[in-house]
Amino acid sequence: MKIAVFSTYHYDEEFLNRYNTGHELTFFTLALHADTAPLANGFDAICIFVNDKVDKAVLEILKAAGIKLIVLRCAGFNNVAVADAKAMGITVVRVPAYSPEAVAEHAMALILTLNRKTHKAYNRIREGNFSLERLMGFNLHNRKVAVIGTGNIGKAFCKILSGFGCKISAYDLYPQDEVKAMGVQYGTLEETLCDADIVSLHCPLTPETQYLINQKTLKLFKHGAMLINTSRGALVHTKDAIKALKSGQLGALGLDVYEQEGDLFFHDLSEGIIQDELITRLISFPNVLITSHQGFFTQEAIGEIARVSFANIDAFCNGEELKNKVD
Ligand code: NAI
Repeated sequence: MKIAVFSTYHYDEEFLNRYNTGHELTFFTLALHADTAPLANGFDAICIFVNDKVDKAVLEILKAAGIKLIVLRCAGFNNVAVADAKAMGITVVRVPAYSPEAVAEHAMALILTLNRKTHKAYNRIREGNFSLERLMGFNLHNRKVAVIGTGNIGKAFCKILSGFGCKISAYDLYPQDEVKAMGVQYGTLEETLCDADIVSLHCPLTPETQYLINQKTLKLFKHGAMLINTSRGALVHTKDAIKALKSGQLGALGLDVYEQEGDLFFHDLSEGIIQDELITRLISFPNVLITSHQGFFTQEAIGEIARVSFANIDAFCNGEELKNKVD
């Protein structure tokens, strides 16, 4: 199969070439959107990542170009108009769970860094400043953590939290016995948010979850609580989060995702002028830590993404059942 691979960096090429089962790959560093979609001419399939946008207009260009298959090398599919793709006869496949532990561990890394301020200590000590002023954190042991979404990543995160001795509450549309067996207490969204020291988001972005964290729900938070989002940027209403940070209602914010990350994340903009006023405001807070959608970024996860992507492509080519089809 001839496959156009969008939004690629050297590590994508390295791992996709390593796991390739015999397909012809052409790598584009460009993201996929209406202006770049014509690059798909002459290919059978496209392979895309989280910030490639496949709306109806892009699908029409892809359909005219002869694309039959969209291979998502990620779990989330909120960036693809799936119903329109289906109506046009274009199949969409994804990698549902490549390494839930990778993202769960990153969520914990954000918590530990924000709490114990190791990023600040690192910089201070390099400058000969050995003071402990303003570096005080809190014990995670016995603290209450709210986990929103207890699927693959949320569950892996609950296991990590258990190891730290945290009290875990959770909200999910479908509570799981396996999670309850870990001692996790399910409740409504309101119950789960209201007395947590830390809230961590692990549900997908859907019309129901867009801006799940907004002015109203932020008011339910315990004053000074920490919010962690490693799921999708638009789960959090950024302007409302900024207001809550300014008032102190939100005590700390750890983001691996951002609602307007498409033009920023994965790019080196260090010599440019950042036009996005919200991210620059967020960066200015001493209690905000942002990483550039790197939760998934481990050797294990990238290898698994490549392996499962080719298994999906091969199943499609061989007319086999597509267990990772997005429907
Ligand atoms: P999953 O599908 O295994 O779990 C999602 C859970 O959210 C399910 O238990 C589901 O019932 C629950 N859920 C769905 N709608 C909900 C709602 N309205 N309210 C409450 N719970 C709801 O997904 P997984 O693998 O755990 O991934 C979660 C999200 O993490 C993905 O959708 C993706 O956005 C994000 N992600 C982020 C990565 C990163 O690098 N930062 C990498 C991979 C995924």
